[in-house]
Amino acid sequence: MKIVMLGAPGAGKGTQAINIAKEYDIPHVSTGDIFRANIKNGTELGMKAKEYMDKGALVPDEVTIGMLLDRISEPDCKNGYVLDGFPRTIPQAESLRKALTEKGDKLDVAVNIEVPDAVIEERMSGRRACLKCGATYHVVYTPPKKEGICDNCGSELVQRADDKPETVKARLATYHEQTQPLIDFYKKEGILKEVDGTQSPSDVFKAVMEALS
Ligand code: AP5
Ligand code: MG
Ligand code: ZN
Repeated sequence: MKIVMLGAPGAGKGTQAINIAKEYDIPHVSTGDIFRANIKNGTELGMKAKEYMDKGALVPDEVTIGMLLDRISEPDCKNGYVLDGFPRTIPQAESLRKALTEKGDKLDVAVNIEVPDAVIEERMSGRRACLKCGATYHVVYTPPKKEGICDNCGSELVQRADDKPETVKARLATYHEQTQPLIDFYKKEGILKEVDGTQSPSDVFKAVMEALS
């Protein structure tokens, strides 16, 4: 199964992608997580990405596309993957399609998680993230068992640098301008499924599983 998750920042792509990856036993590939891991490790890629991420802008396609195509050609991606946060621009979607077509391959489903902007702003302010394993929590909606500690791996949870209200607004604007057009792109490809992302995380997961079956 080769799946793409679409949706605004904070729509719940990461939350659901982790569930899907478990269910289908395929890797969860998040470009945002890859960038954050690079920032944490102080790599050159991380330093470059941080410049853009802190402003709520997109990391340039020249950096992102090659990185993602390399990641999905690793052996663990042979039987599929769930892409979270990629593609985010039309050129990214076209590059992915071209790379897959060259191998006689294609995506199976693009799931769009729909959430209005007002709901998003509230979600982001309460989000806490584990930079080690990628798990995401919300202080009110999906709190960890022990405050400030990841249920999965025991690491300390942090508030993401780009979850400040000003940056969230910028990320939403970037989304509407550059990423939302992908909904039509995948509609035309005939693989788009839409899910109401304002329900509880477990109801969203049920709807996602229905969309995938
Ligand atoms: P990325 O890490 O992908 O961030 P994003 O798209 O802005 O999405 P988020 O991770 O913020 O939200 P999400 O949809 O995963 O929601 P989550 O599940 O956490 O990208 C970060 C940056 O990296 C970008 O801004 C860009 O600069 C760069 N980047 C990444 N990919 C790129 C690319 N391809 N090209 C160029 N640049 C790129 O949920 C949010 C919160 O809500 C959590 O607290 C969660 O617990 C809670 N929640 C989830 N579901 C529900 C629910 N149903 N009800 C209530 N609360 C919920
Ligand atoms: Mg995410
Ligand atoms: Zn963790």
